[in-house]
Amino acid sequence: MGHGKLRKFAENETFRCLIQPDSRDLLEDGYFNLKDHPVKGRWGEEIFGNDNPIVLELGCGKGEYTIDLALRDPSRNYIGVDIKGARLWKGAKEATQRALPNVAFLRTRIEFITAFFAPGEVSEIWLTFSDPQMKSENSRLTSPLFLERYRSFLKEGGIINLKTDSMFLHQYTLAVAGRNGLEVLACTQDLYGGQRLPMPELYEVQTFYEKMFLEQGYKITYLRFKIDREGPYEYPADPEEFDSKAWRQAEGPRRTFGHQ
Ligand SMILES: C[S@@+](CC[C@H](N)C(=O)[O-])C[C@H]1O[C@@H](n2cnc3c(N)ncnc32)[C@H](O)[C@@H]1O
Repeated sequence: MGHGKLRKFAENETFRCLIQPDSRDLLEDGYFNLKDHPVKGRWGEEIFGNDNPIVLELGCGKGEYTIDLALRDPSRNYIGVDIKGARLWKGAKEATQRALPNVAFLRTRIEFITAFFAPGEVSEIWLTFSDPQMKSENSRLTSPLFLERYRSFLKEGGIINLKTDSMFLHQYTLAVAGRNGLEVLACTQDLYGGQRLPMPELYEVQTFYEKMFLEQGYKITYLRFKIDREGPYEYPADPEEFDSKAWRQAEGPRRTFGHQ
């Protein structure tokens, strides 16, 4: 591991806004029986010192959205979640330097998210440039499996925002929404090309990954939807409701970028 990363990891230990649980504690009773973290149900009281609504950014990387949204709306609390400590360092450092009272970061796998949030504790979720996981449906952050996890802690009427360059993930999520009768509140396949949505944060914040995709000429898509539904979420039929092979071919090989 390089010195830069080691320095960031050491500094991470000093940030009060960054929670870095030991996943061995969560997994004590096995992967399918996660143990609750002590902060579950206590974010308002323990971390923010208020009862304001909580918004999550899952896969926040360096935390650009988390920080920007928090600056725009001090009446809500924002938590960025990612597994990569060196990326979280950037957001946690900025939140610390600017003494932002409504920002926190959580270093964990998103698969473990239910161990951290109690029923009704979260109002809204942002998914920003998530990996489309073209080969593994249950790894997609908008699959029925993940929606089930989000439903366990999202308030009734809670909202999911998906901003992505991946048409595959966008179309897949639309198919999940269609299959489950989820209410779609906003949808565009070309955020900057079509009619502007009345949400300045969609245009004025660009994450590390968004900038790279834009430079390469990719269109950015956006979907805002609710996940209210009785009963289990269903998977869209392939290929009738979502043709995974066709969309994978249309997307081409996933672009990767060498950075930490
Ligand atoms: C493509 S990057 C996007 C980062 C940031 N949202 C952006 O737009 O610049 C995806 C991020 O999700 C994180 N990630 C992917 N799968 C994850 C998982 N299962 N649990 C936690 N973080 C994950 C990665 O570490 C990475 O930072």
